[in-house]
Amino acid sequence: MRDRTILVESNGVPVGWFQIENWDDQAKVGSWGIALGDPVRAPAGLGKALPLLAHGHAFDRLEARRLTGRVLAHNAPMRHILTQLGFVAVSQDETPLARADGGTTTTIIYDVTRESWPDIRENGLRYIPLGIRDDITRVMREGIAE
Ligand SMILES: CC(C)(COP(=O)(O)OP(=O)(O)OC[C@H]1O[C@@H](n2cnc3c(N)ncnc32)[C@H](O)[C@@H]1OP(=O)(O)O)[C@@H](O)C(=O)NCCC(=O)NCCS
Repeated sequence: MRDRTILVESNGVPVGWFQIENWDDQAKVGSWGIALGDPVRAPAGLGKALPLLAHGHAFDRLEARRLTGRVLAHNAPMRHILTQLGFVAVSQDETPLARADGGTTTTIIYDVTRESWPDIRENGLRYIPLGIRDDITRVMREGIAE
C-alpha cells in the first residue's frame, strides 16, 4: 500500500492537491482525496477539476480497476460537484463521525470502476469552466514521471 500526493500549481503557485490513497499496486485499487490549498489564488473551477484529475491519474496513468471516494455527508459543495460531474453515490456509512461543533455526520461512498470512468471523464470535462477546461484536458492527457 502507498499514498501519492500530487500538488497542483497555477502560474508556479501551489493552489491545491489530489491524492491517491491506500493504493494497492497488485489489485490496482485505492481511494482518493482532494483539497483546494489556496482558494484565493486558485483559478475558478479548480475545485471541480480536482476530482477529475485524481481519477484521471488513477485510471489513465496507474491503470486502476476501481477507485473509492468518501465524502462527509455535510460536505454539500463536494457532493454537488460530484453529482454534477457524473459520479454516483453507491452507499452511506452510517457510523457517525464526531464533528468539531459537537454534532455528528456520516460518510457518503462513491465507487468508480475502470468501465465507468470514460463516461464520467467525458461528462465531467463539460462542467469544467471554459477558463481552465483546455488546461485540465491537456494535463489529463500528459504523463507524470514518478
Ligand atoms: C470542495 C472544494 C474543493 C470546493 O471548493 P470551491 O470549488 O472553491 O467551492 P465553491 O464555493 O466554488 O462551490 C463549488 C460548487 O459547489 C456549489 N456549492 C457551494 N456550496 C454549496 C452548498 N451548500 N450546497 C450545494 N452546493 C453548493 C457551488 O454552487 C458550486 O457549484 P456550481 O459551480 O455548479 O454553482 C473545497 O471546499 C475544498 O477544498 N474542500 C475540502 C476538501 C474536500 O471537500 N474534499 C472532498 C473529500 S475527498
